[in-house]
Amino acid sequence: TIYRATTTAPVNIAVVKYWGKRDTKLNLPTNSSLSVTLSQADLRALTTASCSASYTGGDSLLLNGEDAEVTGARTQACFRELRARRAALEAADPSLPKLSAMPLRLVSENNFPTAAGLASSAAGFAALARAIADLYELPASPAELSLIARQGSGSACRSLFGGYVAWRMGDKADGSDSMADQVADASHWPEMRALILVVSAAKKGVSSTSGMQQTVETSGLFKERIASVVPRNMAIMEKAIAERDFAAFAEVTMRDSNSFHATCADTYPPIFYMNDVSRAAIRAVEQVNAKAGRTVAAYTFDAGPNAVIYYLEKDTAAVVGSFYHILGAVDGWKASTVQSLATTSA
Ligand code: DP6
Repeated sequence: TIYRATTTAPVNIAVVKYWGKRDTKLNLPTNSSLSVTLSQADLRALTTASCSASYTGGDSLLLNGEDAEVTGARTQACFRELRARRAALEAADPSLPKLSAMPLRLVSENNFPTAAGLASSAAGFAALARAIADLYELPASPAELSLIARQGSGSACRSLFGGYVAWRMGDKADGSDSMADQVADASHWPEMRALILVVSAAKKGVSSTSGMQQTVETSGLFKERIASVVPRNMAIMEKAIAERDFAAFAEVTMRDSNSFHATCADTYPPIFYMNDVSRAAIRAVEQVNAKAGRTVAAYTFDAGPNAVIYYLEKDTAAVVGSFYHILGAVDGWKASTVQSLATTSA
């Protein structure tokens, strides 16, 4: 017999960034963060988990058609947590098949090119956790799954929920209170849109995992960020979302991205994720807002040069049209992959 379960998980893009770990094994962060989950129709990971006593050669993972590392500590941590929960069910009910003892096969595919330079680990580990939980028929809530996905990749814990999602840093050493919760469903503010500007499809120079550790170890500015900048941004952001106040949402989004990239520049040796085209995109957002006479667009950048622009549906013409116009004149700009995405509740 082959036991099987298939699921999907969406991509999320943070508006208050996770950057820094207090525990690198458990992926426990130095600050809380907040993200918006994007539409699965556009960006998602699709994962099938299966297990069978007839599988030989141990656990395996196929990522976008290629054999991937399954022995990594993070993947193994997720497998271990999920197997332990399944084993507990099997111990309580001996009639259940002993799935926890069988090799696992994971097959995962993104519906967007990994080369798009978008963080795929968030959707990937969220889908991995949910697929195995479904396979094992675990009575696990999204919050519980977020605890497991977090150990695969920190940002993945936020992809277990739709809409507007906070990852509460928690303060326990075992990480049992470091999980995601939904601040608001997508239907609370359904006009929100995200525009992905692919500045470069090249793989990033410094991975988030190692970049954030270098920042924690060497940046003085980072101390200020986690002590006061992020707590303030989290509070303003949650209020902005509750009140559907786009100007406030946008200001915090841009300030937090700037603060995160400033701590990268303050890292020694410095880390630069943005390039000239990224900076041109920032200027373009400023021009679009100035022309509209109010804030209609907000930029944010993760650990790479690509921009994500948040805006409201009613301002689509003002934002998307102007971007093409302004950036068209910028050398090095490729309008090859520009997608306008909705937010999602699933
Ligand atoms: C800049 O979640 O990829 O996108 O926990 O080491 O896997 P690991 O890091 P990861 O870092 C994401 C960093 C970020 C900000 C964010 O998504 O909050």
